[in-house]
Amino acid sequence: MTVADIADVHEIERASFPVPWPAYAFRQELEMNRLARYLLVKAGGETVAYGGIWLMVDEAHVTTFAVLPSWRRQGIGGFLLREMLRVAHDVGASVATLEVRLSNEAARGLYARFGFRPVGIRPRYYSDNGEDALIMTTDRLDSREMQDRLRVLASHYGSLPSAQDLERDQDPAEPAL
Ligand SMILES: CC(C)(COP(=O)(O)OP(=O)(O)OC[C@H]1O[C@@H](n2cnc3c(N)ncnc32)[C@H](O)[C@@H]1OP(=O)(O)O)[C@@H](O)C(=O)NCCC(=O)NCCS
Repeated sequence: MTVADIADVHEIERASFPVPWPAYAFRQELEMNRLARYLLVKAGGETVAYGGIWLMVDEAHVTTFAVLPSWRRQGIGGFLLREMLRVAHDVGASVATLEVRLSNEAARGLYARFGFRPVGIRPRYYSDNGEDALIMTTDRLDSREMQDRLRVLASHYGSLPSAQDLERDQDPAEPAL
């Protein structure tokens, strides 16, 4: 992701979260936060997904992650998460961790597929409705189990259709908040 992508990314952010980050937060992340890595997915010319991690000591923390509503359920989120974990592993992170709303079944399903396990709760973490956050963490990224899992997922998501074959949903699902 570069500064030139922020307007598109912010549009996805606003369509995906009840309390979106302001656009300047993305600029700060890209320009000033040396711990941050942000990736995005384009289909044709359109930005359809983005995600970020902070590399804190040996831990990769997923800060934000979303797919444009009309492009969901086509494997894009899995493809991007696979790439985010690859980057995390490449720069030396031992584990990946994140917070997710308890009610966010779509994201929790995806994270479970990637080996994230619930390890705790942050009570009333989300300011808009006081919902609890579930803390999820992977096993060590260099463990045999995790590497095997990521290899299988890479071959699954490696076969992501080309941009021409991906289709914008005609009846987009409500964003999963
Ligand atoms: C979570 C999110 C990124 C998933 O993106 P996506 O491109 O739809 O994900 P994929 O198509 O790769 O789905 C992979 C798996 O995740 C799970 N999943 C995704 N959407 C789901 C849904 N609506 N309900 C249940 N499971 C779901 C499934 O296991 C799915 O595999 P399947 O399609 O073979 O059943 C997307 O729903 C999103 O942007 N949500 C709003 C923002 C958000 O909640 N971000 C996470 C914050 S912690």
